[in-house]
Amino acid sequence: MKHVTVVDHPLVQHKLTIMRNKDTSTGSFRRLLREISQLLAYEVTRDLTLTERLIETPNCEMNAPTLAGKKLALISILRAGNGLLDGILELIPSARVGFVGLYRDEETLKPVQYYYKVPEELEDRMVIVVDPMLATGNSSVAAIDLLKQSGARNLIFMCLLAAPEGVKRMEEAHPDVPIVTAAIDDHLNEHGYIVPGLGDAGDRMYGTK
Ligand code: URA
Repeated sequence: MKHVTVVDHPLVQHKLTIMRNKDTSTGSFRRLLREISQLLAYEVTRDLTLTERLIETPNCEMNAPTLAGKKLALISILRAGNGLLDGILELIPSARVGFVGLYRDEETLKPVQYYYKVPEELEDRMVIVVDPMLATGNSSVAAIDLLKQSGARNLIFMCLLAAPEGVKRMEEAHPDVPIVTAAIDDHLNEHGYIVPGLGDAGDRMYGTK
């Protein structure tokens, strides 16, 4: 997989535009995030390995394709990651799930860890890390550092929007982790927000300020 994949599918782009609009309601924002996450997950899981399993259709036996290996691990970077997580879990209900709690110190913009709980045997799983906004890249890099310390080797990072600064930071720190996103925006502003962006993803999902 390329280091960065922008999913330019028309449905993704259309839904993203509605999400960017500041007048879109909390309920619609949440629903759209869930829908887009499934479309992004389609791209993220494209290279999963298949094996065959003997089944019986109403007509005959057949060797049919089925996913090989251990269950996927989905890792949500709290709290906004949960919006993407909910959608993927509908698509891959048997996935194992982990959470990394990092908040951004608003002065230094550096991540501070407050929670970490991930599935076992990460080394044998495909690990999909989700966070809607790849802004400075500090949280994503810190989360992936922790996951690698826990044994993860096969990682993909999935987000909704990325800033060029965040993509660069990830490329430098974790060149082995592909990024799948719906768009790469123009820049980060002085508060670390993506421009044009969509504002604070967590606040827009949960109706907080
Ligand atoms: N986090 C957000 O929620 N929005 C941004 O624009 C940047 C980081």
